[in-house]
Amino acid sequence: MKTKAIISGVAAYVPDHILTNKDFEKMVDTSDEWITTRTGIKKRHILKDPDKATSDLGAEAARALLKKTNTHPEEIDMIMVATVTADYPFPDTANIIGHKIGAKKAFGYDINAACSGFIYTLVTASKFIETGTYKKIIVIGADMMSSIVDYEDRTTCILFGDAGGAVLLEPGTENGIIDAVLGADGSGADYLYCKAGGSRHPASHETVQNREHFAYQEGRVVFKAAVKGMSDCIEDVMAKNGLTSEDVQWIVPHQANKRILHAVANYLDVSTDKVLINIENYGNTTAATIPLCLRDFEHKFKKGDNIILTAFGGGFTWGAIYLKWAI
Ligand code: UT7
Repeated sequence: MKTKAIISGVAAYVPDHILTNKDFEKMVDTSDEWITTRTGIKKRHILKDPDKATSDLGAEAARALLKKTNTHPEEIDMIMVATVTADYPFPDTANIIGHKIGAKKAFGYDINAACSGFIYTLVTASKFIETGTYKKIIVIGADMMSSIVDYEDRTTCILFGDAGGAVLLEPGTENGIIDAVLGADGSGADYLYCKAGGSRHPASHETVQNREHFAYQEGRVVFKAAVKGMSDCIEDVMAKNGLTSEDVQWIVPHQANKRILHAVANYLDVSTDKVLINIENYGNTTAATIPLCLRDFEHKFKKGDNIILTAFGGGFTWGAIYLKWAI
């Protein structure tokens, strides 16, 4: 039987400090009522320690994963990290995390696909397992969004939070990752991006003054594209694998807006009970939302359940993974 990549464990970490909607009422012109009805978010966790960064969010999640799966760090072959808030432009965050957790035999790298980062990274990692190249890979989604959020811009600051999530990928035959559909459209780059800090607009006095190092989004455009993008790729992966909505037990989506997720359920004619949502507690944590959601709802999953992971984000990027729960 063909070797598949199975998720053999899942863990996550959120920092202690919490920003509630009420806190935002004191910071910008907004209200708990607007944020709740327009996004579904009630609170987000924020990494306040000035000595910590995205690698610490990822390392905490990875440590929890190693403990939970009773795995020694030196058993890990590879670490892959999805993030848009790497500790540095270079080197990558994956190997910093490897050092922090004592994974001395592992190597790794980062993948930047914004909110679809965890989907892209999980698919990439699964190929190293399917080909028999590696036996134990930690796939991390981690973002310290508070490092690129403009807390004077009410249209974006209320959306994001900080978190790290991690899964262990191992070989299996019976269940695991069955198929995936990935997509991208680079013409979407202008609608959701960080203007400065890259080679196009390196950091300067001017870029700082113009607040160009923060995440910028044209919300309405992204909203529409996200509903269509996620719905289409879920439909594609289901059709490719002969699945009807009755065959799917759970949809685990990227958490950007509760209204987006209800619209996707509606579009696909799937019960909203099957679409797992925890955005109220964390906001949009970019690459961390899917592993965080898996961690929060793992108790509901049964071995063999058909699960679809999906995301849409900056790029534009999107994707859906069909897997059978293996633990
Ligand atoms: O994760 C990556 C992908 N990202 C997404 O999928 C996010 C997609 N977009 C969204 O989730 C939504 O577009 C937002 C939550 C960002 C905004 O919600 P919206 O329903 O699309 O609002 P809008 O941008 O159309 O703005 C409606 C009104 C505007 O006022 P006017 O022009 O109608 O007077 C905004 O200025 O709401 C105003 N507004 C706010 N009011 C109170 C925008 N932000 C706020 C705020 N509090 N925080």
